[in-house]
Amino acid sequence: MDIQQDLSKLIYLDNAATTFPKPKEVLQQALDFFSFYGVNPGRSGYDLCVYAGEMVHNTRKELAEFFGGSNPDYLTFAYNASDALNIIIPGILREGDHAISTTIEHNSVIRPLNHLRKEKGVEVEYVSVGEDFRVDPDEIASRFRDNTRLVIVNHGSNVVGAIQPVAEIGALCRERGIYFAIDTAQTAGMIPVDVEAMNVDALAFTGHKSLLGPTGIGGVWVREGVDIRATRAGGTGVRSAHPMHLNEFPYRLEVGTCNLLGIAALLYAQEYIAGRGLDNIYKHEMELFKKLYEGISDIEGVTLYGPTTIEGRLPVLSLNVANREAADVGTLLDVEFDIATRTGLHCAPMIHQQMGTGEHGSVRMSIGPMNEMKDVEAGIHAVAEIARDALG
Ligand SMILES: Cc1ncc(COP(=O)(O)O)c(C=O)c1O
Repeated sequence: MDIQQDLSKLIYLDNAATTFPKPKEVLQQALDFFSFYGVNPGRSGYDLCVYAGEMVHNTRKELAEFFGGSNPDYLTFAYNASDALNIIIPGILREGDHAISTTIEHNSVIRPLNHLRKEKGVEVEYVSVGEDFRVDPDEIASRFRDNTRLVIVNHGSNVVGAIQPVAEIGALCRERGIYFAIDTAQTAGMIPVDVEAMNVDALAFTGHKSLLGPTGIGGVWVREGVDIRATRAGGTGVRSAHPMHLNEFPYRLEVGTCNLLGIAALLYAQEYIAGRGLDNIYKHEMELFKKLYEGISDIEGVTLYGPTTIEGRLPVLSLNVANREAADVGTLLDVEFDIATRTGLHCAPMIHQQMGTGEHGSVRMSIGPMNEMKDVEAGIHAVAEIARDALG
């Protein structure tokens, strides 16, 4: 199969799905590392193995600090955010517990919760976000019960970019001794995440979006002392005679051989992010987003969804064009204009229901660190052309 494409023509506005392209230096450094040290870390005492293990530990340390944590062992690796949430949610909740979440969640939160509701009788409540697409922390607190064990909230929406008031929610949970978890799939690597300032007890991250790693790597950070049990068991490379999965961190939440290439990429990507500066990356993306938002707002026949200001949001825009179905607009953007977007429900059905787009969803344009102003201008032009055509 010939997978070479002329990328110079492609306008990639699907960064909320995964950032693309990744910084070349990150990929190259990870590949170099894997070429020289690609053995099974932590399994043996020879030099390569020790060095690979050190790299894994350094990545834990860098990421734990990046999220405001201190103990590297409490930063554990998973495949992606969905996998991480499947470690956190069933790891914390037990039969008879009550959990609170919101209507702006991704299926990676909704489905594990719904499975526990069905299979373990966990009670689950979804609090609606308001007209500004933010959940009211007091509304969450008003649902607290004696058996509430977990509140889990999306830090930033992959549909409309709204950033949730997680610090306020975290403070209310802490007062009541309720665990607070956040899904940082869209925010990690884009805006600061500080588990201390936000009173977070567990955090799920994915490596392939703004953390600029490849697909297949993500993870969990948990606060020391959080009562989270392993939901899977297997090889850890140490204390092999033990018949049960190890309780100590980082082993408790990890099984089997890790994604060494992905972990190496995350480490080099941390250097890249620090070099460009997290604030600068976000500022760059929001400058482009402002142009996109304002340009598209001016087009007749276009409906925009989400917060009506660009403050406190991520560079993610959901829209529909006149009487055209979202999927058709996506196809036109791709085929006629070489613009990659995503259409449909974006794995977040409840927020689409709340927006009245529960059936066909929306077209989503999302900005990433590699976008330039010309990408945004092309996006505005293409939507204007499609709208003009639709309105006849
Ligand atoms: C808010 C949110 N949560 C979770 C996920 C799942 O991430 P992953 O596909 O890396 O598991 C996504 C992915 O789009 C997301 O946007």
